[in-house]
Amino acid sequence: MRRQLRETLVIFYLLVMCSSGLAAYGEDREGFSILQGTTTSTETVLSILLPQGGKNKILLSEGTNPPQLLFETGKSTSTSAYLLETQTLPLNRTGFEILNLYIHGLKRQKKYTLKVQRESIKKSKNSLIDIREFQTLREPTSKKPLRFVVGSCIHTKYRGRAPKIWNSITSQNPDAILLLGDNVYVNLPSLRFVNFKKKFESRYVHTRLSTDLYFQKKLTPVFAIWDDNDYGEKDGGKEFKHKAYTSKMFQAFFPRLKKHRLFSMSKSKTNQNMTLESVALKFDIGKSKFTMLDNRSFRDVRGKSAKSGAHHGKTQLMLLKHRLQEKGNHYIASGNEFFGAHHKFESYEKDHPEEFKEFIQIIKNSRKKVFLMGGDRHLSSLSQLSKEDIGQETLELVASPIYSRLHKKSFKKYPNPRMIEGISNKENFVLVEELSQQEFGHQIQALDHKNNVLWKYRKTPK
Ligand SMILES: [Fe+2]
Repeated sequence: MRRQLRETLVIFYLLVMCSSGLAAYGEDREGFSILQGTTTSTETVLSILLPQGGKNKILLSEGTNPPQLLFETGKSTSTSAYLLETQTLPLNRTGFEILNLYIHGLKRQKKYTLKVQRESIKKSKNSLIDIREFQTLREPTSKKPLRFVVGSCIHTKYRGRAPKIWNSITSQNPDAILLLGDNVYVNLPSLRFVNFKKKFESRYVHTRLSTDLYFQKKLTPVFAIWDDNDYGEKDGGKEFKHKAYTSKMFQAFFPRLKKHRLFSMSKSKTNQNMTLESVALKFDIGKSKFTMLDNRSFRDVRGKSAKSGAHHGKTQLMLLKHRLQEKGNHYIASGNEFFGAHHKFESYEKDHPEEFKEFIQIIKNSRKKVFLMGGDRHLSSLSQLSKEDIGQETLELVASPIYSRLHKKSFKKYPNPRMIEGISNKENFVLVEELSQQEFGHQIQALDHKNNVLWKYRKTPK
């Protein structure tokens, strides 16, 4: 009985917290929570968190052209040639809904303006208008050097420790932002008695409302995968009973174009459930190939048999192998660190050593240049990998946390023998810039919330 009462009080608190203040839907900001999802040079998906009910008009303008109506909530059809598809996901436990607009027919060189107009329920009040700018990604033939931001671990409780970090990120004007997991922390200790789905929705909505990324005037394409805290179960794996539900939700909150789903690559070789549940991505920016793996849906959790078990799983490795046949330099990302035998926390190498060997062999056999990226560790580091490690001299980057709990003595306690740059005990993001495609040379910098350089690495191609 006491437990029930407590649960009711917590839910009531969350609902009030999420739906109070109809004038501004961000906790302390004007406007709506808006995300630009995965993008190509002609297509994108825009995700808007709206209060349920009410009338909303979404308008789009190209350059200085007058805006045209893209979509009106409550109406099933749209005459706009830009709109390919819409997806609405009601979040009844919070009073919000996610509206995802899949847009095509865009031009790379143009700037676009999105206008969201919500009619006030009270006639005396003016309607709420939110205006954002966005662009598409560079064309595959573009010669402009690629630059992107990598980050992970976004714990709303700690956001005050890195104020304006999202402004610093977007001020770097990256082509894209890659989020490598723990983009939402679902299982807060204070919510341990709350029903899972209520907690999941509330935490996702709350994070969307209290993260400055979603309130930037100029949008940046976001490519996101998950780790355990946004998957929904601490250190969780393939047995997690809510994984079909959490995958559907994650893919609505971090929408992706169909062509960017890694598991859509080879439908005949994968079963339907896997296709539905995996959040793994594949996409190109310019000439560079990105594959972001799903380290949760197929994972054998730690235990007696896990050492010979799955981290990414057989099917996903097969898809990676297939992907690595594509010409170009490859970035491979996953939620956990790849080479992590030097510490006790989760990593590919330590948790699933047999499959890790298979992964290394796939890289070696591909004869492609690769660059590895992971999150999760609440520290940032750059490791030099040798020919012995992976068949080529290359780098592994760990980018974490944007803001979350910090550990003071990480490097002292768990020295990383391959590390060449790194910082612990500091909120950060990492800016990766390509110096040359041919030699795969990079400038890589970890930056703090004021754009101060925490560490910097530069490899000029010979
Ligand atoms: Fe984390």
